[in-house]
Amino acid sequence: METFTTKNALEAHLSAFRSAGKTIGFVPTMGALHEGHLALIERAKSTTSISVCSIFVNPTQFNDPADLEKYPRPIEKDIALLEAAGCDVLFLPTVGEMYPSDEEAWSFDLGQLDKIWEGAKRPGHYQGVTQIVNKLFHIVKPNIAFFGQKDFQQCMVIQLMVDKLALPVRLEIVDTIRDADGLAKSSRNVRLSPRARTQALALSKALFMVKQAVEQGESPQQAKEEALRFLQQAKGVELEYFAVCNPRDLTEIGPEQQNIRPLVVILAAWVGGVRLIDNILL
Ligand code: PAF
Repeated sequence: METFTTKNALEAHLSAFRSAGKTIGFVPTMGALHEGHLALIERAKSTTSISVCSIFVNPTQFNDPADLEKYPRPIEKDIALLEAAGCDVLFLPTVGEMYPSDEEAWSFDLGQLDKIWEGAKRPGHYQGVTQIVNKLFHIVKPNIAFFGQKDFQQCMVIQLMVDKLALPVRLEIVDTIRDADGLAKSSRNVRLSPRARTQALALSKALFMVKQAVEQGESPQQAKEEALRFLQQAKGVELEYFAVCNPRDLTEIGPEQQNIRPLVVILAAWVGGVRLIDNILL
């Protein structure tokens, strides 16, 4: 794996491959890599000629400075995981490289997506995400970029930006990877105490309850209400939102829309001081 820390060096390296007709698959990350990220690298490797991963803990997408400070940064371990996964190129820039001092203010109209669910709970978060992903797309110029379904709303936000700016990149959304007991893989899971990790299992359990009940003929609304009662009684879980939505625009479905498919059930909750999100498609 070749590692680059500057935009210019990475651009020069990749442009040679591009001229040789090779396709570039890109996996942007903030590090603290887990099997979810490795599944994205694997998909990039099997779909494109060259896999590029970036590791950059992007300060502009953290609305809580304490969250930014606590974000895990196990860089040696990440590099070893990428080497073992056969990743071709790592981009590891500094904050100064990505945000020069003459940086222009960024404001991107994301419509409702910036105002609901994660957008409402984390003001400015998606502005920071679009700002950095747009920069990375311009540097890497990937043919395909790979994102995990776990950050469902982020996938929609990035797709909206790609469409609005007509960026020449295709997005591929890869299924959420879970531990055997159902917990969605997340870089934040390392901050869960053993007790909180056990309590966090209620989240995926609630999502699977909804899916199973709907498959057995219950309406999504009814299934959600049962799972909501379960979550409200779950020890250690402080629910922020739990909703059944239309995956096209993330609006919550009403009583007259129970037969729409697909649907997405989304949730966010605090468990043992760690904020977790998860979702499932119906
Ligand atoms: O999902 C993430 O890890 C980040 O939001 C991303 C897409 C790498 C942008 O910083």
